[in-house]
Amino acid sequence: MPTRNELWQNLLTHSQTMRNLHMRDLFKHDTNRASNYSLEWSSLFLDYSKNIITQDTLALLFEFAHSCQLEQRVKDMFQGKKINTTEDRAVLHSALRCPANKTVMLNNVNIIPEVHHQLQRIKSFVDSVHTGKLTGWTGKPLDTFVNIGIGGSDLGPKLVVDALDVFRINNTRSYFISNVDYQQINELIDVINPETTLFIVSSKSFSTLETRTNAESLLSWMQQSGCNAIDKHFIAISSNIDAASAFGIAPNNVFSLWDWVGGRFSLWSATGMPIALALGYDNYEKLLAGAHAMDRHFTETDLEQNMPVIMALLDVWYRNFFDTASQAFVPYDESLRLLPEYLSQLFMESNGKSANMDDQLIDYDTMPITWGSSGTNAQHAFFQLLHQGTQLVPVEFLAAMSKPGDKQHHDLLIANCFAQSQALMQGEETTTPYNYFPGNKPSNTLLYAEMNPETLGKLLALYEHRTFVQGILWNINSFDQWGVELGKKLASSIYETINSETIDQDTDSSTANLIAHYKKLR
Ligand code: F6P
Repeated sequence: MPTRNELWQNLLTHSQTMRNLHMRDLFKHDTNRASNYSLEWSSLFLDYSKNIITQDTLALLFEFAHSCQLEQRVKDMFQGKKINTTEDRAVLHSALRCPANKTVMLNNVNIIPEVHHQLQRIKSFVDSVHTGKLTGWTGKPLDTFVNIGIGGSDLGPKLVVDALDVFRINNTRSYFISNVDYQQINELIDVINPETTLFIVSSKSFSTLETRTNAESLLSWMQQSGCNAIDKHFIAISSNIDAASAFGIAPNNVFSLWDWVGGRFSLWSATGMPIALALGYDNYEKLLAGAHAMDRHFTETDLEQNMPVIMALLDVWYRNFFDTASQAFVPYDESLRLLPEYLSQLFMESNGKSANMDDQLIDYDTMPITWGSSGTNAQHAFFQLLHQGTQLVPVEFLAAMSKPGDKQHHDLLIANCFAQSQALMQGEETTTPYNYFPGNKPSNTLLYAEMNPETLGKLLALYEHRTFVQGILWNINSFDQWGVELGKKLASSIYETINSETIDQDTDSSTANLIAHYKKLR
């Protein structure tokens, strides 16, 4: 285990020294600190100089990364080795954004032709919707797209569609139904026209309770609305084609994905259908191209210049050597307002683990809590705690360097973004505790030229690879999620109990009381 590793112990010793340094002094002593600790790649610029690190820290972190066989483990993933050991699966979401002329072998078969076959199906479907070749049951064009899915089958497409709204195909609308709370459906059916709505039932397993229940309810609503050709209004995205067909989706309307694509990494597959429908296939292709460019940066660049690697090493540095319990993401860009929610699934479902790759319980911390919201709003909410609270919370700022709209607003937005990282770093000495700013609070600033499909593809692939590298450094499997299973099992038994006269005698008294209270008041 890493804690027993000599390098880990060296990092621990080094961190004791670093805790006594102030970043203010590090900046004073090294006038080139900003350029020494920043990285520009393509349209992205990462400033990581406002971290409690020196060249000694980086040297130790890179040494640790090498000792984890990082480069070999990255190759293993890209070459289709079954690195998701508990599910005995390869992890090849990167293959989904590979150009057609590349080769990725899995079980002695090149999977790229099949990937591009699916992409062609998506393109032809999306084009037929946009040109009006496919219509609803009354012959009207389909202009409203409702994704029914949850978790990885919701958050990624929802984020992309929201972030790139300025690229939206004219006169179309998108909605995302995820929660089994009927309120979402109630609100939806108030504002959509059944004659022009296309539903995308998106579930890799096609067994997820929320998605199946919501799809059934919306199917009934369509029938009650007079729809006599359901196959004009329902398509499915799934790796379980039989279950989707059994549900009543016409086989031609099922778009498949593969078991080597994890749910939270699936927006590059047919799960991205809502993206292609909302933004057009060309923009979807650009998103894939941006992600592929990041894949190349990740696999072809030395660790010392590798953006996802540096970011993951800093994550481990704070989590394990400064005992930070959370990290905040603050995009100063309303386009990315859903990013914190998306990242909390990506990071926490991937790396919220307590067992290592050898299936032993570990004695060191893994993923901290991921949270955040967009700036400047966040400044008037939780920034108080970041500046003066008792916990150290590393922050990541994101911002677009140019943005359509009013220049003054954008200048003010960016000024606030830069001011926050500066204030967190330098602090301010005063005589009174209530307005004392200790400073020395770490942050990354990730800048991108502008928000567009390529940029977003690069950013999301960057976060995916950062997640994977964290997992390698912690020696955990980032690609399973067994921790969500117990709750699902218990929910189904409680659901039965709610609808039966008896209750299992083994039920704990708190849960039994809650069920009884609900039955009395529902
Ligand atoms: O509950 C966990 C989970 O399995 C996620 O990993 C997944 O993205 C989500 O549920 C939805 O699963 P599915 O796409 O199979 O409906």
